[in-house]
Amino acid sequence: MPDVNANIPVLTVDGPSGSGKGTVARLVAARLGWRFLDSGALYRLLALAAEKRGVSWHDEAALSALALALEVEFVGGNADNEPTVMLSGEDVSLAIRSESCGNNASKVAALPGVREALLARQRAFREQPGLVADGRDMGTVVFPDAGTKVFLEASPEERAARRHKQLKEKGIDASLRDLVKEIAERDTRDRVRCVSPLKPAEDARVIDTTSLSIDEVVDQVMALPRSGDT
Ligand code: DC
Repeated sequence: MPDVNANIPVLTVDGPSGSGKGTVARLVAARLGWRFLDSGALYRLLALAAEKRGVSWHDEAALSALALALEVEFVGGNADNEPTVMLSGEDVSLAIRSESCGNNASKVAALPGVREALLARQRAFREQPGLVADGRDMGTVVFPDAGTKVFLEASPEERAARRHKQLKEKGIDASLRDLVKEIAERDTRDRVRCVSPLKPAEDARVIDTTSLSIDEVVDQVMALPRSGDT
C-alpha cells in the first residue's frame, strides 16, 4: 500500500544523550511551525509503565504488548517549554526525565519487539505541515525517506555537563561523576545493540556541538535544504 504520508516533510535529529538534540529539535520545530516527536519519551514512558506494573526488563513479549497499549498524550509544548507528558491520564513529565528512567528506557529499547511495537505510533506523528523527529534511529529506521537528516555529536564530558545542568534546572539531584559513567554505559548499549543502533544515517549531516551554542546549532540546522520548501 502506498504511504499516503510520504509527501509530508520530515526533518530528523538523531544523536546520543546530551548532544543537545532534544532542545535543538524542539526549537527547529517551533521555528518551522512543524510537529515535534520526542521518540525517547516513548521509550521512557514504556520503562515507567513497566516499572509501575512490575514487568521484568527481560520479558520482551509483555513489554511489547505494553508498548502497543500505552495510553500516552503530549499536551502543549513550544519553543520555550517541553510538552506535558501524560501516561494513562497522569502527568509524568518529571518522572520520565530521571536518569534511572533514561537507563531503563535504554534497556527496553534494545528489544526488537518493543521497537517494532512503537514504530507505527512514531510514524503517526507525521502530519502536515511537517515533522521534526528527535531520537536515535529517526533517520535510519523510522523515517528513512526524511528530506533532511541531522546527527548531533558532542564530547562525553560536555554531554554529562549539559545533562547535569538540565537535571538541576528541573530540581533533580545528580552527581556529575555518576552522570559521566551512566552516559558512557548508555551510549555503549545504544550503539552496540543489534536492532536500530545509534549511528548516523548515510545521508545525515553530522554536527559536532561540543563548542557550539544551542542557537548556533539551530541556525546550522535551519540552513540545511529541506524537502517541501519552494
Ligand atoms: O533521548 P532520550 O535520552 O530520552 O532516550 C532515552 C533512551 O531511549 C535512550 O537511551 C535510547 C532509547 N531511544 C531509542 O532507542 N531510540 C530512540 N529513537 C529514542 C530513544
